[in-house]
Amino acid sequence: MSEQLRGIRVAPNADRVLIAAPTRGGKTTLIEYIAHCLQPIRTVLIDPKEAPELAHIKPIVHNVSELPDALRGPICHWIPEDVEDRADLTAGYAAIWRLHKCGARLIWDDEVADTTKPNWISPDHAKLIRRGAGWQQLYIAGTQRLRECHPVIRTQAEHIIALTPAPIDLDLDALAQHVQLNTDRLRELMDDLHEQAGDYSHLWYLKATREHRRMAACPPGPQQWRAHLHAPARAQAPEEPGADGHAQAHAHSALEEELQASSTDESHS
Ligand SMILES: Nc1ncnc2c1ncn2[C@@H]1O[C@H](COP(=O)(O)OP(=O)(O)O)[C@@H](O)[C@H]1O
Ligand SMILES: [Mg+2]
Repeated sequence: MSEQLRGIRVAPNADRVLIAAPTRGGKTTLIEYIAHCLQPIRTVLIDPKEAPELAHIKPIVHNVSELPDALRGPICHWIPEDVEDRADLTAGYAAIWRLHKCGARLIWDDEVADTTKPNWISPDHAKLIRRGAGWQQLYIAGTQRLRECHPVIRTQAEHIIALTPAPIDLDLDALAQHVQLNTDRLRELMDDLHEQAGDYSHLWYLKATREHRRMAACPPGPQQWRAHLHAPARAQAPEEPGADGHAQAHAHSALEEELQASSTDESHS
């Protein structure tokens, strides 16, 4: 996988990625950027906040009964009608899970504290996170509040990304334990990175190697890759084998060079 994607894998097993930042902290922008780098790959966007900045990603589906058809296209943007309606969420994630054997996909769960609770996640949403990896279902979630979403999202993530500036103590504290740092050390690293690289730079924790990589911000929108996300040539029939083999070749990007990979001793402080 490309250097731009910092080791995010789609095949043979897909990774799970969790991105943490406050509202307007740059989560959606970064996920959209990663989605661009991964094209062509079938993409399912779950957008419970109906984010205006995602309105360009079409087709948009509100009614879960329309999801099964929409999910067969190259891109599907689902805006759940009512996030308090657990039956609706359950049906929606069931439709998404049902196609898990149909090739590589990117599952983009934009605000996962809206679609899960600390003590509730729909069964097929949990399956997607726990078992989708073996079926090349790359999973990327964004949230402000790690503690307000279901723990499976934190515990399964192979990559945890925290955007600067550092969040409030409560959120920083929740983040720290999942990136193997104490809160003070995490604040120090994030403050230092913010000072050096500014807003939207991010600390990228790779669980496999326990590295804390310091990353520059991805380029802001309106992004050239938006056109890319919609190109009809990217259409993939669900029955086709995964598109992951192409991801690397298409992972050209304008992401600035990594500022500096942090030394391994940072990961143990
Ligand atoms: N990498 C970036 N560079 C410059 N501006 C950015 C960047 N990421 C986000 N922004 C700005 O912040 C706004 C909010 O970002 P967004 O990704 O929607 O945040 P979130 O999803 O965390 O609420 C964007 O509309 C854009 O103006
Ligand atoms: Mg957002």
